[in-house]
Amino acid sequence: MARITLRQLLDHAAEHGYGVPAFNINNMEQGLAIMEAARACDAPVIIQASRGARSYANDIMLAKMMEALTEIHPTIPLCIHQDHGNNEATCLSAIRHGFTSVMMDGSLMADAKTAASYDYNVAITERVARMAHWVGASVEGELGVLGSLETGQGEAEDGHGAEGALAHDQLLTDPDQAVDFVTATRVDALAIACGTSHGAYKFTRKPDGDILAMQVIEAIHEKLPNTHLVMHGSSSVPQELQDIINKYGGEMPQTFGVPVEEIERGIRHGVRKVNIDTDCRMAMAGQFRRVATQGPREFDPRKFLKPAMDALRDLCRDRFERFGTAGNASKIKVIAMDEMAKRYAAGKLDPQIATAKAA
Ligand code: G3H
Ligand code: 13P
Ligand code: ZN
Repeated sequence: MARITLRQLLDHAAEHGYGVPAFNINNMEQGLAIMEAARACDAPVIIQASRGARSYANDIMLAKMMEALTEIHPTIPLCIHQDHGNNEATCLSAIRHGFTSVMMDGSLMADAKTAASYDYNVAITERVARMAHWVGASVEGELGVLGSLETGQGEAEDGHGAEGALAHDQLLTDPDQAVDFVTATRVDALAIACGTSHGAYKFTRKPDGDILAMQVIEAIHEKLPNTHLVMHGSSSVPQELQDIINKYGGEMPQTFGVPVEEIERGIRHGVRKVNIDTDCRMAMAGQFRRVATQGPREFDPRKFLKPAMDALRDLCRDRFERFGTAGNASKIKVIAMDEMAKRYAAGKLDPQIATAKAA
């Protein structure tokens, strides 16, 4: 049984200077492909499920699937994480279904559309962290609102993300406020806003520091050197995946994601969790389109899914290797959640703020 908490995994990543991709899943094929990539390069894994994934797949199906993945790959530490929890109920029901970690995204109200006040964010995140820590689960909070520095707009898409215009300072996490937030909420990891957004259409040109503010991450890391930072919206939207989709009938307009080298720079400055969903979707969708185009008589779903899984596996393996995750699975001795709960209760896992303040 290799179910690991986010806190233990990111503590290990920080100690050894690597980052961990967090891949979103909705179905068995994605789970199998990600775990196969991890097994091939000895990487620990974060698999995350959004609220949309939970309602698509059904909580029981997801829970049994995670159990099966740990049984198939007993040597790979697997963190099961709730992506963008919108309230206490979402986070607690995830833990009840075997998740070892939750994100309480209090940067938005529970409707996941309206930007929340700082006080609201602190209060709900602190509440969730207190409850999750009682049972040893980890908590990621978010400070700052995801959206585009190019357009000044939120990133409303598929019913998730801030709607309308956002002020420049809402789109960038403030380093001093980050110190205050981590101290007040006791989160295990902090998601920050630096100009990334969800989905494929992040930037209209290769991003520079004006629209992808990696310097903000560096400033936060200076103030919070022991806090694990999380980058959302970190798909790279590779040109080759855009080309495959468009070659086989897709009509994706030219777009740019977060270059992998910028993520590597973030990892050198405290980024430990890197959220990737869009790239995985594109890797699979490209193969669906290719098979449909090249084999118009094909109707066996496995003929579509197998190459899609292979493409996803290759993408995941590349990220495990580029982020330095590869080679670390076998070095981790997993601590059970009950033991983590005892450590929280004894104050041994307080936010690394004490060290940060002394620095
Ligand atoms: O948070 C964004 C992830 O890409 C999940 O997307 O809500 O469509 O599952 P989803
Ligand atoms: P992408 O859309 O860039 O893959 O981001 C995913 C994400 O941040 C999930 O929380
Ligand atoms: Zn996200």
